[in-house]
Formats: sequence, structure tokens, C-alpha cells
Amino acid sequence: MIGLSRGNVKGARISALGVYVPERVLTNDEISQFLDTTDEWITSRTGIRERHIARPDQACSDLATEAARAALVSSGFDPELLDLVIVTTITPDMTFPATASIVAHNIGATRAGAFDLEAGCTGFVYGLAVATAFVAANIYRNVLVVGAEVLSRILDWEDRSTCVLFGDGAGAVLVTPTDNGSIFSFDLGNDGSGAQFLSIPAGGSRQPASHETVKDHLHFTQMNGSKVFKFATRAVVESCEKVLVDAGLAVADVDLFVPHQANIRIIETARKRLGFRKDQVFANLERYGNTSCASIPLCLEEAVTSGRLKKGDTLLMAGFGAGLTWGSCLTRWDL
Ligand code: ACO
Repeated sequence: MIGLSRGNVKGARISALGVYVPERVLTNDEISQFLDTTDEWITSRTGIRERHIARPDQACSDLATEAARAALVSSGFDPELLDLVIVTTITPDMTFPATASIVAHNIGATRAGAFDLEAGCTGFVYGLAVATAFVAANIYRNVLVVGAEVLSRILDWEDRSTCVLFGDGAGAVLVTPTDNGSIFSFDLGNDGSGAQFLSIPAGGSRQPASHETVKDHLHFTQMNGSKVFKFATRAVVESCEKVLVDAGLAVADVDLFVPHQANIRIIETARKRLGFRKDQVFANLERYGNTSCASIPLCLEEAVTSGRLKKGDTLLMAGFGAGLTWGSCLTRWDL
């Protein structure tokens, strides 16, 4: 396993935050009406009780646009000042064009470049790293990072081992310059030998769409749950330890740890191994399920609203997902 460390990144901060979740809530009990599962099984194995599901007319760019607008409105930021729009997602509207192109158009970011970034569920941390690098290098001043997913569209609703885990949602942050060095350190990692453990096998250049791929459900998410579980707990712990060392900080210095929200047992295992107290860790997957690239910003918004995350707090974020990828970011919350 390789982890690339980028220590002491200075000069960028998160200066706006916005989220969006579709209204429709799908509970475990509802799923158990059409699938051989129970609320008890799902809750005890994953911690998930319900998730939000997009309307049939909503695609990834629609959710991303709502979250982006929320971030811009909350900070009174003029979209024409955006230099770059990055959308991180595993459920783009289409293979191409990039969902970011559509979102940039929707929000009136007429001067901005736009591209999608795909790093599985670690996409938000990767996107934050790219935005920070652009800003810290003084190439761009105002970069919008949006994590948005309509995972309900890529689930096999006949497969109880995967479809109960995921939900839809979006979150956006604006990354802008600061003199304070608010973002301390990043760690981005990848181990492609585990690519087959979490994927949509068909629909790309390896296995183009055909009658057979549709018949065999190969356009839906397939996952080896136990492999991903073991990988996730190991990667999150190692990555978090690395960014803490890079920044010269200890677990006790972290005010809030926001891990990717895949499974409460993964979060609990990582928490114990890292030595965090329960009150240092934020989790809301009970109500959203795993929203992939949207999970961390959805937590941030709720942590701010509930007073768990305050200006000046030291914040640790960690993601993991398909690739297999992982990534962590240590920052001072400056919003
Ligand atoms: N309801 C009832 N029974 C179920 C369900 C369900 N929804 N799903 C699976 N089962 C059954 C299985 O068929 C199996 O039955 P069997 O013993 O008769 O074969 C039994 O439950 C146990 O299955 P396991 O897979 O061993 O269950 P486990 O406790 O490992 O939990 C889970 C499975 C929840 C998927 C777990 O492995 C996990 O969370 N893995 C990580 C998943 C993850 O986080 N993925 C995404 C991360 S990256 C990203 O975000 C894209």
C-alpha cells in the first residue's frame, strides 16, 4: 500500500459550505417490503436507518448545482469570480461531458474551467487536495469543489448486500487563499490491486454495454464487502496517522474527526485504533447511508449547524473507496 504525503500545505482555506439532499426518504422498513432484509439487520451491521433518494428527474448535476448554489449564497460569493469548478462523483450525468461543465453553466461560473474528478468515495478529499494545490500555488484564487452522487441509479435493487448501503446527496465547498495556512496536511493513496473489489464492471471500454451486460446486472455496483471493510479500517488509520505526523499534531489535538460515512462499524473500528474519544468523531450515516463523495461535506454542514464544529477547531477528514483509494486532510476550520 502506498500513501503519498504532502506535508504542511499553506495558503488555502474552506471559505464556504453548502449541501443538498433530495426530499424523499427511504427507510429500512420500506426496503424490507421488496427485499429479503430487515431493519434490524441493516441497522446492526451498518448503522444505517434511512437514506435520501433523488426524484426520477434529478441527475447528479442537479444535486450538485443545488449544493453549489447553497455554498455561494451562504457566503455571498459571486459565481463569476470562480476560477475552477471541480465535481467529484462516481455517478456523473453521463460518461461525457463532465458533470462539472453542466454545473458551472447552471451556477453562472462563466469564467471558470471545469472538470470531474473520479477517485471513488475518496473523491471529496482528492478534490479538496487539488483545489488547495491550485490556490496554494497561486494559480487560481477561487475553486469550488462539489461532491455529488445519485447512487440510487447505480444500485442493483435486487442485491440486498449492496443496495441497502447507499444514498443520494451533494455538498460543496469553496477553497480560497488565506495568510493563515488553514489546511495543514494531506495524504492521498491508491492500491489498484484491489480495483475488482468495488466497481461497476460494464459500460466502459473494458466491457461495453450489450444485451448480456444488462441481463447480467453488470451496470450496477458490485462489492466484496469484507475485503472493502478490512481495507477501509487499515487505510483510514494509516492515513490519519500520517497527516497527524506531517502536521506535528496528536489525536488529542483534533477537535473533530469526520470520516467517510460507509459503515458505523468501520468508523468505530478506526476510532478505537486511532484512540479518539467518541465525542471527537462525527457520524450521520444513520440518516443518509453512504453518499460517497457527498458524505464528508454533508457531515461538515451538520457539524457546523449543531455547534460541533467551530471556527478555529482542528478538523481531520478521511475518505476511502473504489480504486482502492484513500485520503486524509487535516485543517483548521476557518468558517
Ligand atoms: N439483509 C439481510 N441479510 C444480508 C443482507 C441484508 N441487507 N446483506 C447481506 N446479508 C447476508 C449475507 O447474504 C450473508 O448471509 P449468509 O451467511 O447466509 O451467506 C450474511 O448476511 C452475512 O454477510 P456478510 O457479508 O458477512 O455481512 P457483514 O457483516 O460483513 O456485513 C457489509 C456486510 C455491511 C456489506 C460489510 O461487509 C460492509 O459494510 N463492508 C464495507 C462496505 C463499504 O463500506 N463499502 C463502500 C465503501 S467505499 C464506497 O463508499 C464506495
